Amino acid sequence: MPDAHILGIESSCDETGAAVVGSGQRILSNVVASQISTHQPYGGVVPELASREHLRAIVPVVRTALSEAGQTYESVDAIAVTQGPGLAGALLVGISYAKALAFALNKPLIAVNHLEGHIHAVLLEQLQNEQRQSEQRQSGDDDLHFPVLALVVSGGHTHLYLAQVQENLWTYRNIGHTRDDAAGEAFDKVAKLLGLGYPGGPIIDRLAPHGDPHAVKFQMAQIKHRDRRDYKQSEHLQGDHLQSEHQQARAEDSRPHFDFSYSGIKTAVLRYVETEKLKPAIEARRQALAEIEKPALEDVRGLCDRQTLNLVASFQRTMVNDLVMKTLAAAVEYDVRTLFVSGGVAANRELRAAFEREAGMQGLPVFFPSRALSTDNAAMIAAAAFPKFLRREFVAMDFSAEAGMRLS
Ligand code: KG4
Ligand code: ZN
Repeated sequence: MPDAHILGIESSCDETGAAVVGSGQRILSNVVASQISTHQPYGGVVPELASREHLRAIVPVVRTALSEAGQTYESVDAIAVTQGPGLAGALLVGISYAKALAFALNKPLIAVNHLEGHIHAVLLEQLQNEQRQSEQRQSGDDDLHFPVLALVVSGGHTHLYLAQVQENLWTYRNIGHTRDDAAGEAFDKVAKLLGLGYPGGPIIDRLAPHGDPHAVKFQMAQIKHRDRRDYKQSEHLQGDHLQSEHQQARAEDSRPHFDFSYSGIKTAVLRYVETEKLKPAIEARRQALAEIEKPALEDVRGLCDRQTLNLVASFQRTMVNDLVMKTLAAAVEYDVRTLFVSGGVAANRELRAAFEREAGMQGLPVFFPSRALSTDNAAMIAAAAFPKFLRREFVAMDFSAEAGMRLS
């Protein structure tokens, strides 16, 4: 079959993205226009400004993605766009433009869940790697085994999914999520609290190696998951009579959930700041950074004393341990054969190293997207659209944004 070229469009939060991907695997172009400088003065994403910036960027970003891919509006085979979850106004910009293009060019339109996009970012790279490896060793794709457990960890989500695929139909089951803040949100809020700048994740990632991760002790919420014995018991009791869909759904429901909670650690950092009287130093740092147009890591680090670096390192170590341990516990419980870790926080160096080390000890293969493909981009949207393209799962022109869209 000839390469199918899908133009992906992403505008769910603060990045305007467009990409062309060949057959869900080959990235021909991947353009991302970041709005960091727009939102930086506010220390977080301002929804109205995000929509305005998407409107400004969408046409040139798509045009650049096509030309970098050596494609034209007419030559692509389908247009894929993020339907949700995300900011309603921001999503609408991408969706309206995708609809207009699909209508004018008479191309099929594919709606993609942003979270499914993050999961497929892993696959995109994985397939590319396999292609490279199999070119070398002339053998098949024996690396990717299902079921897969996917941790999607970003500014809006900390979710665990069991993923399966059959005849290009991907199915997902949520087996855990954050009860309050997402992990990326905790990174961003803690960075803001400490006057380190925005977005917090990448700054904390780079500051943490300069501090002592054992200096400050944080207690993480231990959320008790329901015991799998409940499930096994109900399975046993019902035995062959587990027939009705209702009964099956109840049995599935009673399987354990592995939930996360990250609002407590943010409060603990705040309490530490107050008891250690760090506020004057934080304010001085905030003001000093506001005067630098594009602060480099050295600028930020130069404004941090040892105690702050230790606090940052301890915060990151606690976050990483919690994410890794809960995910691996879920992997064992559900007997998965492969682990995916994706979403903006998957760019974190300590998180990647810890997952590789700990999953390696359990003999569990773990895959991440490249660091650039971990954060929001449109290549992942085009990649997730490809199985739907093969199944001809196209949407009608009246489909709409779904800000609170769920996966599965
Ligand atoms: O996936 P993403 O680009 O957007 C959402 O869908 O939310 O994720 C953005 C989040 C932000 O909270 C950002 O601080 C965090 O990912 N992030 C990181 C790193 N790079 C981005 N967190 C920790 N370490 C990083 N290197
Ligand atoms: Zn995202």
